[in-house]
Amino acid sequence: MCVLVCGGAGYIGSHACVALAERGHRVVIADNFSNSSPRVLLRLQRIIGAPVECERLDLRSKSAVARLFARHRFDAVMHFAALKAVGESFAQPLAYFENNICGAINLLRAMHEAGVARLVFSSSATVYGDPQSVPINEQARLDVTNPYGRTKLVMEQLIDDLCGTDASFRAANLRYFNPVGAHPSGLIGEDPSGIPNNLMPYICQVAAGRRSKLSIFGDDYPTPDGTGIRDYIHVMDLVRAHVAALDYLMRGEGNLTVNLGTGRGISVLELVHAFERASGCSIPYEIVARRRGDVAQVYADPSLAHRLLGWRTRLDVHAMCRDAWRWQSINPDGYQRPLGKLKSLPLDAIETKA
Ligand code: NAD
Ligand code: UFG
Repeated sequence: MCVLVCGGAGYIGSHACVALAERGHRVVIADNFSNSSPRVLLRLQRIIGAPVECERLDLRSKSAVARLFARHRFDAVMHFAALKAVGESFAQPLAYFENNICGAINLLRAMHEAGVARLVFSSSATVYGDPQSVPINEQARLDVTNPYGRTKLVMEQLIDDLCGTDASFRAANLRYFNPVGAHPSGLIGEDPSGIPNNLMPYICQVAAGRRSKLSIFGDDYPTPDGTGIRDYIHVMDLVRAHVAALDYLMRGEGNLTVNLGTGRGISVLELVHAFERASGCSIPYEIVARRRGDVAQVYADPSLAHRLLGWRTRLDVHAMCRDAWRWQSINPDGYQRPLGKLKSLPLDAIETKA
């Protein structure tokens, strides 16, 4: 199959390209590189063993999306392209609505006109807002607390409406919990611009000496050690679920909305200590005030994904930290360093299968 991967140059999309290629699919990336680097393409070529096609385009341009679909014959689409910073979404809600909703509508329109009827969509556990109880299953109340979350919820609803009105259209809404880690080669990984918002990339940058210490946002939550609990999921497990979801859609089994998490909650302090063990680095930290909008505990009930897709996570928190650290230590400046200058591990020396 030929799969269009919108946002395929980004953190999760790039890992999905590897998983799709391993499944034998041809991949075409569409990305405007607003939050990624074209350098990821050479890294992907190194991992996959063949060049990856890529079209530089902005999904907000209806005509550019139409031209993309005129040039290729896609069998399915994976849609990762979105702005994703919760804080920024409060400052620039219209930019988030335009990018994440208008961009996705342009994509859906082009798919409809080209008769491409299989979509895997990146949603988020943010659609559960402040959950009433954990673990969270897919029946939990939906309640967004920020404009970014609203874009995800609106897109899920639009996609559900399309599935309801067009019997040939099949879609998977995948609600990610907290993706972390990197491809085991250390060639691709998460490369946030500026100060990382998220915990794992921040820890990595402290370990690499780019930041002096981690600020832990509150130790007075009603959790065993007082720090926030989340469901961290290895990005390689996450993208394996995407391939399974695509297989499910291609078999014509229906539409689906599922949580993608491990089902295990880990506190900030537990993650810090797991990272220290996996990397051998010490992570200095200080406890500071809670971050606005944070909640005490968010973790998934992932049993529906297991039932429908036969998928469950395989990689534990040690693997998450080990692989995040491998990526960070080989690429202290992310994608800024050209491939030839990497102190890279030989690819055949390690297990690289998704
Ligand atoms: P990312 O920013 O690394 O990747 C997104 C990619 O989309 C980038 O390469 C960016 O350049 C591209 N893009 C954005 N807007 C575009 C546009 N208008 N046209 C073309 N390309 C565009 O983010 P990620 O972490 O890989 O996240 C992928 C998806 O998963 C997003 O939809 C995000 O909301 C969702 N998600 C991520 C997380 C997380 O913690 N990383 C959690 C839940 C959901
Ligand atoms: N944290 C710190 N210090 C930091 C960063 C985070 O203590 O420097 C803590 C947070 O308070 C929270 C935990 O680490 O307890 C995880 O925080 P992240 O920012 O890594 O992740 P969140 O769960 O807050 O948010 C992530 C994504 C959102 C998404 C949400 C639910 O960033 O986009 O998961 O899927 F909506």
